[in-house]
Amino acid sequence: MKVTVDDDRCRGHGVCTALCPEVFTLNDDGYTVVENPEVPAEFEDAVRDAVAQCPERAITAV
Ligand code: F3S
Repeated sequence: MKVTVDDDRCRGHGVCTALCPEVFTLNDDGYTVVENPEVPAEFEDAVRDAVAQCPERAITAV
């Protein structure tokens, strides 16, 4: 699974970082960055939850 966050859509709600801090981190401006787009298998469920729960629909995982 690869994950990306659309910088134009992210509004810093932080749902993703709460659900899976191993994949999503907030930068100094309060927006999410993904350090490594390759999601380890053990975090795929959490990333799917983040995709579903991001209020801005900013996260894509394929
Ligand atoms: Fe941004 Fe959505 Fe996460 S708005 S901080 S990608 S929950």
